[in-house]
Amino acid sequence: MQIGTALTASATKIMLLGSGELGKEIAICCQRYGLEVIAVDRYENAPAQQVAHRSHVIDMTDPLQLWGVIEREQPHWIVPEIEALGTETLIAVEDEGLARVVPRANAVRLTMDREGIRRLAAEQLGVPTSRYGFADSLDALKQVATKVGFPCFVKPTMSSSGKGQSLVYKPEELEPAWNKAKKGGRVDRGRVIVEEKIDFDFEITLLTVRALNHQREIETQFCEPIGHRQERGDYVESWQPQPMSSTALEAARRIAAQVTDALGGRGLFGVELFVRGDRVWFSEVSPRPHDTGMVTMATQRQNEFELHVRAFLGLPVDTRMNQPGASAVIYGGLEGAGIVFANVDQALQVPDTQLRLFGKPIAFERRRMGVALATGESIQQARERARECAGKIRPGISQLK
Ligand SMILES: Nc1ncnc2c1ncn2[C@@H]1O[C@H](COP(=O)(O)OP(=O)(O)OP(=O)(O)O)[C@@H](O)[C@H]1O
Ligand SMILES: [Mg+2]
Repeated sequence: MQIGTALTASATKIMLLGSGELGKEIAICCQRYGLEVIAVDRYENAPAQQVAHRSHVIDMTDPLQLWGVIEREQPHWIVPEIEALGTETLIAVEDEGLARVVPRANAVRLTMDREGIRRLAAEQLGVPTSRYGFADSLDALKQVATKVGFPCFVKPTMSSSGKGQSLVYKPEELEPAWNKAKKGGRVDRGRVIVEEKIDFDFEITLLTVRALNHQREIETQFCEPIGHRQERGDYVESWQPQPMSSTALEAARRIAAQVTDALGGRGLFGVELFVRGDRVWFSEVSPRPHDTGMVTMATQRQNEFELHVRAFLGLPVDTRMNQPGASAVIYGGLEGAGIVFANVDQALQVPDTQLRLFGKPIAFERRRMGVALATGESIQQARERARECAGKIRPGISQLK
């Protein structure tokens, strides 16, 4: 395994598809290894582009534009950071040996669509999931929802961060849910998944790493489970470890290993699971670092970004946790370009905290603009510290001219 020198003929080149806050940390990690980083996004000055060697602004769902940028840059590795990509192009790129897609083009394709991953997990692998069905019209939705039962979630098959999702308690609510899904879906295919609502005690992200061991074989390793709290389908705080019974932890690891084995390739995956007592349900999986996993920047020897980069490069990984920690999201709270974060000094007076401000050029009310990280003696203490630190930050409009 060798790494070239960035910006010379020997450079080992990494292309990020999606340059948000997770991509920014991946880019920083790649920079530390002397890799050449090319950051692609649909808008200018996206977070990872601010720490990359070069940037491109394209529509990443457009096969021609995607192909064009890959041909021009000739990266060795393509690292998807978001779901909304022209995945057929990535499959062709991989087939033709132009670049290696992390963890594997087919894993990226299967997970960008709730239907692909759900059918793989539930129907091919027999992993426990909520009851579910798919619908292409309001009429079909009514039928499927009756079969699945109420309450249920209605989600566009292609969406993330809770967009277009509804929790439906009774049949009358299906029509608004259908309309919301049609509007909130990424590609207007008008296809939804209906999922039984699981009454869980808590939900976790089990960061699962497929990396080479000393024998140069792929081995699966797990981080300590991460607990998190979601509001409107978007994560607001996470903590590590999430205490759970050893039976549930074993089941979670078994499910995560099964699903990630089937997806294949090397890299880190965020396996989302619901837990009640000793029972575990598979929800979904990201074949890449997970937003709730930002907590690992405070808790682990190697955070999720480092693990991802090491895993795809073929370097050894260490998933051990140092100490309990937590993360709390900082939202824009207002709409505006080039907002200012006040009170940073006071926020960082909270013991054992760190901040990440992502540098997103434009803020809006519910846009994630930063994250507070904390460690503590206990999970409770870490959560309180992270929340306090995040809560002290005051986003505002710049007064400077
Ligand atoms: N079947 C379900 N039963 C119970 N809760 C659910 C179910 N489906 C979704 N949720 C809740 O909604 C949250 C978001 O759902 P999901 O992960 O499917 O959406 P998403 O849009 O992919 O979100 P993200 O991209 O942020 O992970 C879950 O983390 C969970 O809290
Ligand atoms: Mg999710």
